[in-house]
Amino acid sequence: MIPVILDCDPGGDDAVAILMALSAPKKIDLKAITTISGNASLEWIHTNARKICELAGRADVPVYAGCSNALLRPAANASFCHGNDGLAGADLPAPTMPLQKGHAVDFLIENLLNAKDPITLAMTAPLTNLAVALMKRPEIVKGIKEVVWMGGSMGTGNITPAAEFNSFVDPHALQIVLSRNIPFKLIGLHITHQVTTSDAWMERLRAQGTEVSKQVAGILAVEAVSDQTRYAIPGRAIHDACVIASLLKPELFTWKKAAISVDTMEGPHVGATIISTYPAHVKEDTHTSCAMGVDGDGTMEFILECLGTYASHQKEASGF
Ligand code: RIB
Ligand code: CA
Repeated sequence: MIPVILDCDPGGDDAVAILMALSAPKKIDLKAITTISGNASLEWIHTNARKICELAGRADVPVYAGCSNALLRPAANASFCHGNDGLAGADLPAPTMPLQKGHAVDFLIENLLNAKDPITLAMTAPLTNLAVALMKRPEIVKGIKEVVWMGGSMGTGNITPAAEFNSFVDPHALQIVLSRNIPFKLIGLHITHQVTTSDAWMERLRAQGTEVSKQVAGILAVEAVSDQTRYAIPGRAIHDACVIASLLKPELFTWKKAAISVDTMEGPHVGATIISTYPAHVKEDTHTSCAMGVDGDGTMEFILECLGTYASHQKEASGF
């Protein structure tokens, strides 16, 4: 069992990450979901996180609201992809499960300081919550096993030619996290753009015939239009699912120790991640690494497999 806290900004691909994490309760002990503004405003984000937990039949998962803006940079959103409410293409009722009292940053501090076993931080959004927690109580580092973050890129960005969205929204938070001695694994666009839907894959998803598959297909179909138009990739890149896939099926990914830095200067390159695996740049004791390869088809198969588990959950729940 891997103790995990998932920090996210659902967002369709974050929603798939949540569903994958909850599909393997014997492997991932999901302590809580912490949320952050990013793809949409914070109110939508924590609402969407609870909608997805209830879709998964897991209204017991604590959901916390975190920071409503980046440390220094102006608010941004990804409504061009995820819609104004952050979950375009979904048709889900308002959540009935409550939002947890208390701030996500304080939840992170409390749980990392008192962790029995170090916790894996699966992070699929701007890193503001973790950065603030580190500023408040630097000693939380002792409770972190590793950070696995979807963000950055070894090549072109997406929100700008230079920067990937999660890094662009809060580059200062990324800089703070990188500066601490925390094992940090980056899964960037150079990887996640190899993990994309296709028409055939979408048909197989719909054929699962569950409410989960129907909702995810609705979301990914809408988001695919943005990815195909903006990046000329075959379908929707399910970026955030890669974080959970790397925890549940590590053999899908290859890694290299890497020197990672981020441009925080306002200008055309703000948020750009500079990543080098050259021995000349990677220090002996570096704590950061970058995903260098992915079995894209294998990851898409695995995503289907995880989502397919909800068929049996649903049958059990309905007593068939
Ligand atoms: O650039 C992709 C990332 O930005 C993903 O996490 C997506 O959800 C958006 O937040
Ligand atoms: Ca995200």
